[in-house]
Amino acid sequence: MASREVGVALLGVGTVGGAVARTIAERGDVIEARTGVRLVVRRAMARSRERVIQVGLPPEIATTELDDVLGDDRAEIVVEAMGGEEPAASYLLRSLQAGKHVVTANKEALAKHFAELAAAAHAAGRALLFEASVGGGIPLMASLRQILAVNRVSRIRGIVNGTTNYILTQMAEQGTAYAEALQEAQRLGYAEPDPTADVEGYDAAYKLAILASLAAGRHIRPERVDRTGITGVTPEQVGEARSRGGAIKLIASAELDGEEWRLRVAPEFVPGDDLLAHVRLNFNAVEITGDRVGPVVLYGQGAGPQPTASAIVSDIVDAVRFGVALAPHVAPE
Ligand code: HSE
Repeated sequence: MASREVGVALLGVGTVGGAVARTIAERGDVIEARTGVRLVVRRAMARSRERVIQVGLPPEIATTELDDVLGDDRAEIVVEAMGGEEPAASYLLRSLQAGKHVVTANKEALAKHFAELAAAAHAAGRALLFEASVGGGIPLMASLRQILAVNRVSRIRGIVNGTTNYILTQMAEQGTAYAEALQEAQRLGYAEPDPTADVEGYDAAYKLAILASLAAGRHIRPERVDRTGITGVTPEQVGEARSRGGAIKLIASAELDGEEWRLRVAPEFVPGDDLLAHVRLNFNAVEITGDRVGPVVLYGQGAGPQPTASAIVSDIVDAVRFGVALAPHVAPE
């Protein structure tokens, strides 16, 4: 198979961006053999040149300016791994407007600006892919896209935050204190830079809003999620749930009630005969119910640099191969 070289620009080389750079370096040959795409990182936007060197990239590709990225014709794909709403959302929009395919793991920027970004991708005729934004390495978006091609999806329910699931698991199984379990989740690269987003349920609410927007075909804003985090969960509640054969889990659910989507993120008691009670550590699981296919459950590592980078690099390859055909259909509210 003849190979095609494709230039990638990274916006952000933190935990996730660094893992993407390493995955491209370590798996470049495998990717090329399987897909015919030779990935080359052409630009890396980062606060420091040292960080770019640290993740094994050549120092001359480092920049602090988005314009350097957008003006580089050899960089066809922009991978945003900065996180946070701004400036990331504006950078995503400008990248699409500049004619780049865009891959992002940024659930907050997507959840808040989904319709605008989807419209920009269609207008530019470019891909907008975000597999890693929900469920880490689980091929959730690919599966949802497949299901939604035929089905009416009326219910989505699952565990979509690895950090809180890790904390609740360690509290239940090891008797670990909340603060210590959170520190460990941070050390393992699961937590957000400000873990409030995880433990207060914002991260799960962004992810649920993204899933529900795709199912609805229109933008459902994260403010519509009735949200409670895990900070009020006590060791006693966790222990009691375990003694009853179940577990306390941070459950995200979206359900179509007539014409209205009802969205909720909250800690719930999950009985032992429910699959979700057995989702441990940084794993996530999401059940999607379609009117033709019935319930489909997807399970895998929902947080962590390697699974996240796996999803991002797969998205890069898909963007090259399928382009705007993979832009999401999300109308304004
Ligand atoms: N902080 C997120 C989590 C990372 O713990 O699930 C993956 O989105």
